[in-house]
Amino acid sequence: MDRALEGRRILVTGAGSGIGRVAARLFQERGADLVLAGRRLDALRETAPQAQCVKLDHADEAAVAAFAATCGPLDGLFLAAGELRTGSVESTSTADFEAVLTANLRGPWLLAHHLGPLLREGASAVLVGSNIGLRAIPDSAAYSVAKAGLHMLAKVLALEWAPRRIRCNAIAPGPVHTPMVDARLAASGHPALDLARLSGVNPLKRMGAAVEVAALAAHLLSGESAWTTGTVIPVDGGADAVY
Ligand SMILES: NC(=O)c1ccc[n+]([C@@H]2O[C@H](COP(=O)([O-])OP(=O)(O)OC[C@H]3O[C@@H](n4cnc5c(N)ncnc54)[C@H](OP(=O)(O)O)[C@@H]3O)[C@@H](O)[C@H]2O)c1
Repeated sequence: MDRALEGRRILVTGAGSGIGRVAARLFQERGADLVLAGRRLDALRETAPQAQCVKLDHADEAAVAAFAATCGPLDGLFLAAGELRTGSVESTSTADFEAVLTANLRGPWLLAHHLGPLLREGASAVLVGSNIGLRAIPDSAAYSVAKAGLHMLAKVLALEWAPRRIRCNAIAPGPVHTPMVDARLAASGHPALDLARLSGVNPLKRMGAAVEVAALAAHLLSGESAWTTGTVIPVDGGADAVY
C-alpha cells in the first residue's frame, strides 16, 4: 500500500463533501494525520471519525486567527473549500461577486496568512482552483475571476515559501461530479443537456471522479513531487489542450 503521506500532518478544508472529503480519506489511507476544517462538524466527522475536526469558516479572519493560535505545526495544506455561483459580469450582483471572491480567494488567502508560519520545513500546500480559472466560459464570471486569483496566490506563495523549502501548487479540475455540480444541475432548466455538455467538453468525453483529483493532490503533498512548486496543473480530461 502507498504510504507516501506517512506521519504528515495535513489540514484539509472543504472536507465535509465532494473533492475535499474524498481527498481526506485518500490522504488518511496513505498515512496522513488529518485536521479537517469546514462549517459543518457532523459532515467532517462523517468523512473521517478519527481525525481532528474543526468547525471553521475560512473567510472569517478572527476565526482563522483563533484556529492558528491552537493548531500546531503542519506538513501540508489541501485547500478545497470553495463555492460556485453562476452568472455573467452583467447578471451577477455585487453581493454574489463578493460572496464568490470571499469563498474562493479570501478564505485561502487568510489561511495562508495565518497558517504559513506553522508550516514545517518540507511542507507542501495544494490550492484547488479550476480549469475555468484558466479559460473563460460565459456563465461563471465571478468564480472564474476568483479561481484565476487563487492560481496566482499559489505561485506567489511558492516564491515566498521556497527559502523555507515549502512548496505550493494549484490544481485546476474540470467538471467533477460532486454536490457542487449537483446544485448547478438542479438550478438548470435543462439538467440532462447540461450534464451531457459538462461531460462532453474534454477529449476523454467524461466528467472527472473526485478520487482522480485527490490522487494528484496526494502526489503534490508527498515528497515524490519535491521539485514541483509554483505550478497550476489542469486535471480535466484534456480540456486545457483543446482550442
Ligand atoms: N466539482 C467540480 O466540478 C469542480 C471543478 C473545478 C474546481 N472545483 C473546486 O473544487 C473544490 C471542491 O468542490 P466540490 O466540487 O467538492 O464541491 P462541494 O462538495 O460543494 O464542496 C465545497 C466545500 O467547500 C466548503 N466551503 C464553502 N465555503 C466555505 C467557507 N466559507 N468556509 C469553509 N468551508 C467552506 C463547503 O463546506 P460546508 O460544509 O461548510 O458547506 C464544502 O465542503 C472547490 O474549491 C471547487 O471550486 C470543483
